[in-house]
Parts: sequence; C-alpha cells; structure tokens
Amino acid sequence: LLIEAKDEISSANDMASLNNIRIKYLGKKGLVTLEMKKLKKLPQEEKPKFGAVINKVRNEIEKLLNEKMEEIRKNEKIKKFEKIRVDVTLPGAKRDKGHLHILTKVQRELEDIFISMGFEVVEGPEVEDTWHNFDALNTPEWHPARDAQDSFYFDEKTLLRTHTSPIQIRTMLEKKPPLAIISPGRVFRRDYDSTHLPMFTQMEGLYVDKNVTVRHLKYTLEEMARRVFGESAKVRLKPSFFPFTEPSYEVDVWFQGNWLEILGAGMVDPNVFRNVGYDPETWSGFAFGLGLERIAMVKYGIKDIRDFIRNDVRFLENY
Ligand code: PHE
Repeated sequence: LLIEAKDEISSANDMASLNNIRIKYLGKKGLVTLEMKKLKKLPQEEKPKFGAVINKVRNEIEKLLNEKMEEIRKNEKIKKFEKIRVDVTLPGAKRDKGHLHILTKVQRELEDIFISMGFEVVEGPEVEDTWHNFDALNTPEWHPARDAQDSFYFDEKTLLRTHTSPIQIRTMLEKKPPLAIISPGRVFRRDYDSTHLPMFTQMEGLYVDKNVTVRHLKYTLEEMARRVFGESAKVRLKPSFFPFTEPSYEVDVWFQGNWLEILGAGMVDPNVFRNVGYDPETWSGFAFGLGLERIAMVKYGIKDIRDFIRNDVRFLENY
C-alpha cells in the first residue's frame, strides 16, 4: 500500500491530483481507512502490532502528501514570477520625439549669425500705433501701406504691426547710438496665397554709427547669406523704394542657380533720424527687413508658404 501511494504521490504534479490521492488513501472510504476498520475484527493479540504498522503507513503517506504539496506550491510560485518577470537587458520601446519648428530653427540660426557679428536681439509689441508703424518711419498718411485694405486695424490709431520696422523707432527712442540690433517677430498683412500669409515672420536689422555706408550693409548681408546658404552664395542689391530708407534696395541671393529675392534694405532716411531725435549730420546707419519664411523656403525648397502653419506632421518631420 505504502509503495503504491509513494509512486502515485511522486508522479502527481498538481494540487487536484494530489487531493484525489489523499481521498483515495486517507478519505472516509480510503484504502488506509479500510485497513484501520479491519483492526476491530482481528484477534486481541494481533491488534497492537497491526495497529502500529497501519499507523506508520498512514503517517508516512500523510508526510509524503504534505511534502509534495509544498513542492507543488513552490513550483507554482516560480511559474507565476516567471510570467511577470522583466528582462532589464531588453532595449526600451522607442517613442516619437518632438522637435523645434522649422521656422524657429531658421530664426535661431539667423540670430546666432547676427549675434556673432555684434548685433543684439530686441523685441517689440505686435499691436502697434500708427505713429511707430508709419509716421515715425516717414510713411505719410496717403501711403498705400496705410490703407485698411492692406493692414489690420483695431481703430484709427491702432493696428497689428505690418512690419518689424517700428522696433527701429522704439529702440532709437530708448538708446543712444551707436547701436546694432535685430528684431525677430510676427507681422500682419491682408494677404493670402501660396507665397503670402496674413501672419508671417520678419527679422529687422538696424545698425547706427558714424560713417556707416552701403558697403557695411552689403558686407553684413553677404556674411549672413554665406552662413545660411553656403560659401558660394552671392548677394545683389537692386534699387528700390521704402519711405524709411534712402537709398533703398531689394536684396537677391544667388542660390542653386537662381537670383532669389529675400529681403528689403537701405540706408536709414535722415527724416527717420530726426523723428527719434538723432542728428542726421552725425549719425548714419543701415536697416534691413528679411522674411524668415522666405529664407526657409529658399533654403529648403518649400513651395507653399501655407505649409508652415498647417501643422501637418508629414511636413514638419522633414525639417
Ligand atoms: N519694413 C520693410 C518691409 O516690411 C522691409 C525693410 C526693413 C526695408 C528695413 C528696408 C529697411 O517690407
């Protein structure tokens, strides 16, 4: 009986079969229990001996069952841990990472270039008054840029700035010359197609000192062009007109076989100096205003300016 039980117990490998074995041997109608019952019918002198043997068998089976139970429990625990185990040597799951917008990158790149040439970054308000945006910049009442068709007005004297040039005025009113500043910022015009947005980004430049000439302007822009577009980039000034500069220029950059217009510039008009209390006999300067979207479009071959504000990740991921 004991040998049989031993075999069965050692080959059992879960709690249910172990329980069945327990019932089979030690249950109310179990094999060991039945042997115990036989005890009564035995002659008196054989009882102690038989009783001792059957007790021993019972205890032995009990012991084996308990040992096996422990073993099975242990194995189940190990299996459970195995399932939830983490392999710390596996590489982590990759996550998509965000990055700076193309326009922010271009802006920072230009800031770094001008800062390295000694320019300081200043900013101004997006909501301007007509004096800073137009009058102080020598742009008279009748000028078409002042038309409500071209600009966003809040009232007769307040509008969204149409360019970053009013920051020239604010800076000169605040500081004494000499000075060299750039001002990046959003500007607003009533315009919308594949090359114009009602909101776009400019970077203004202003340098005021004694004896500033067009050659300083051209050199500064050439240096910028070389650093943005590569050593072979060339710069061409074409005569143009702005009320606040005299002479004025449209500036083209030679890039990948084409002359591309990227900014407006000129020598600060004496009237502008007078408006901010600088003596035009002493001070001279140049100013420029470049379109950041335009520069990004030229540099990266972007065809539609509206892509900058669509927030389509397929576009954004490219830069
Ligand atoms: N403010 C002009 C524009 O928006 C650009 C410019 C700035 C031209 C400074 C000359 C000097 O078009």
